[in-house]
Amino acid sequence: MDSERIASVLSEIERRVNKGYFFPIIGPVKGELLYAFTLLARPRLVLELGTGIGYSGLQIARALEPGSRIVTVDEDQENARVALANFRKAGLEDVITVVVDEAGSFLERDTYEYDMIFMDIEKSRYLDLLESCILRLRPGGVLITDNALRPELRRFREAIMKHPKLSSAIIHIEDGVSLSVKKP
Ligand SMILES: C[S@@+](CC[C@H](N)C(=O)[O-])C[C@H]1O[C@@H](n2cnc3c(N)ncnc32)[C@H](O)[C@@H]1O
Repeated sequence: MDSERIASVLSEIERRVNKGYFFPIIGPVKGELLYAFTLLARPRLVLELGTGIGYSGLQIARALEPGSRIVTVDEDQENARVALANFRKAGLEDVITVVVDEAGSFLERDTYEYDMIFMDIEKSRYLDLLESCILRLRPGGVLITDNALRPELRRFREAIMKHPKLSSAIIHIEDGVSLSVKKP
């Protein structure tokens, strides 16, 4: 993992977004949090739902240990194309696999067991996909979701806080990030 190369692509995306190129990325503050969580979790296999143009995937990738991998899913072909170009620029084409698919359809077919799942898709899908995410996580694995404090995610917050298989916390940074560990 060439961390300088990854950092340079991250800065380039931040510069473009700051100059008015509109694309919703988690940004540097929540990006650093995602990086720190990944360092703590030391995942071998990560699933990301909502690739965007690759910013959050790069934040996760820079914390990975050699041999670890990310599968990232986005339903938008054009976003996936830009993300793949960014991953190539960062030298991560062998570390990150981009899948063009709707997250729910992907989870229905998928059979892998993940150490970490990061979800950042259309907010109305969070609650629908919660059980599938838990199913695909190994015991002790972690589900991280972006935007957890948004008003429309109230029922999702309640679901992760009271779920018998999860231990959850919500971090009050910007519009929130939730962290749920699947109980062993
Ligand atoms: C907020 S952006 C992701 C940003 C990215 N995680 C980052 O911080 O760099 C949301 C992405 O999710 C994708 N998306 C939204 N709903 C989806 C769904 N149901 N299945 C797959 N992708 C979805 C969109 O095409 C978009 O690229």
